[in-house]
Amino acid sequence: MKKNLFILFLLLLTTFVQAQNPLFIPPTLSGTNFQLNVQAGTTQFFPNINTPTYGVNGNLLGPTLILNQGDFVTLNVTNNLTNTSTTMHWHGLHVAPENDGGPHQIIPVGGTWSPSFTVLNEAGTFWYHPHGENKTDIQVSKGIAGFILVKDPIEAALALPRTYGIDDIPLVVQTKSFDILHQIQIASVFDTVLLVNGTRNAYANAPAQVIRLRLLNGSSERSYMFGFSNNMNFHQIATDAGLVTAPILENRLRLSPGERAEILVDFGTMSGDSVNLMSYGSELATGIIGAANVGNGMASIPDYHLNPLNGADFPLLKLRISAPTANAITSIPTTLVPFTPWNVTTANVNRTITFAPEIMSPTGMVEGPFTINGKAYNMDSMNIKTYLNNVEVWTLTNQTMIAHPFHVHDEYFFVTEVNGGTVPLNQQGKKDVVLVMPQQSVKFVVKFRDFADNMMPYMYHCHLLHHEDDGMMGQFLVQTAGTNISKSADNEIISLFPNPLVKGEKLHIKAEEKVLTVGVYNYLGQKVLEKNVFSSDFCLEMPLETGVYSVVLYTADKQIITKSLLKLQ
Ligand code: C2O
Ligand code: CU
Ligand code: CU
Repeated sequence: MKKNLFILFLLLLTTFVQAQNPLFIPPTLSGTNFQLNVQAGTTQFFPNINTPTYGVNGNLLGPTLILNQGDFVTLNVTNNLTNTSTTMHWHGLHVAPENDGGPHQIIPVGGTWSPSFTVLNEAGTFWYHPHGENKTDIQVSKGIAGFILVKDPIEAALALPRTYGIDDIPLVVQTKSFDILHQIQIASVFDTVLLVNGTRNAYANAPAQVIRLRLLNGSSERSYMFGFSNNMNFHQIATDAGLVTAPILENRLRLSPGERAEILVDFGTMSGDSVNLMSYGSELATGIIGAANVGNGMASIPDYHLNPLNGADFPLLKLRISAPTANAITSIPTTLVPFTPWNVTTANVNRTITFAPEIMSPTGMVEGPFTINGKAYNMDSMNIKTYLNNVEVWTLTNQTMIAHPFHVHDEYFFVTEVNGGTVPLNQQGKKDVVLVMPQQSVKFVVKFRDFADNMMPYMYHCHLLHHEDDGMMGQFLVQTAGTNISKSADNEIISLFPNPLVKGEKLHIKAEEKVLTVGVYNYLGQKVLEKNVFSSDFCLEMPLETGVYSVVLYTADKQIITKSLLKLQ
């Protein structure tokens, strides 16, 4: 039976390997009010066969949301599925827990959930996907996922490609598994159908100039080792949650599920050529799903070796290089955006996070189910309680024989140590997913800024969706410290104007009650200005550099984080 299935898959693969299909580019939505309809439909992955799928505003995947830093946005998510609840998580966005779209923000059949928040993230590539308890893998696998591109003035000032779909191309790479009736199935090792933006055997035209690829591994389990078929170099400019200090020259880039990267590739001299974006699966280390072997010589996952993609090098996307566009970007910038990682020596909490199989047996070590600190996810129990503005060092230890991509909601983190040693350059940026190799450890430093809630938790979990659904997840509360912190002060009760503010002008602040002190913080969270005021209506000199700032008002009994970011021009 298994052999037959395998032969069937090989047949399916070979019949499709020839045809080339134009890469689907998701449409964009922008503005401050978004309508996302989660719906069922069908998609033809095989000729003349309609496979039931899910999508957002369509049959498969969802539109790319363009958000501007500082905007106050409302995302209306309507569940038009007829038989199941859903949730929608903004992976990588720094939002209050009630806006995060985790397992607690359930959208019932026919319901609409409308989180509103100020976009606080720096420019970067993020994504959205469902996160329902036990439902993440099936709903993502059936097709619900989309990009979120955050724009900010600092990124806008750099000479980077940003014409969407032309020289700035989002690419979500996913593999899917189908049963013999061509229905999408999960928790299967036969994820043999490779899709880029939902397209099989995709090709795209790329102009002969510097182009930007925004790579997202949206797969349930598989990791990829990106590279080009001619082995050309490229420059990584962003990690999960934003731009790095300077482009990083590389010719391979590994992404595990949930991770993103932005790369620049210079096709300037290649007009008329074509090149394949590849995954070099043969170069993935043992233990990573997608490598030739998992299990480190112990019992491996049954039938894992029958999937022809495992350990193989294969094309993801053919790029046909054509004439350059007008106003092409022709060179790679030398510097991007400086940032300072949180200082480990300021950390006030150290935590140990250990991954282990629920049952200590050779099969359990690779197949799970896996636990975090000995516990499976339980919606009603709080695994970690922390406080607003804590700086914490988390040490992740993987006691299993398989690699797990660990993800934290709310905040990005900085990896400080990989297995006791140095961190690869392209993992030193802002990260929200980190792959922890079998029998190894990773340390990162994180700071829980801006949002506190004594009731509603955030999630941390393995981003292998089958592991997550199986309980390899926990939840943490960011509690208010000694003072009360208003989660989201309303714009009506506090006004900052003018905003944007021109350099040299005074900032006028009106609050509902008497403010004792004002603090102004830069985008790194560093306090750049503090003033005692003792008034509810006052003006402030702003001798600061051009940039985006958050303004915090301290009253007698609380700390009010103003919703609108102040832009100084
Ligand atoms: Cu991308 Cu909690 O997930
Ligand atoms: Cu997330
Ligand atoms: Cu895992």
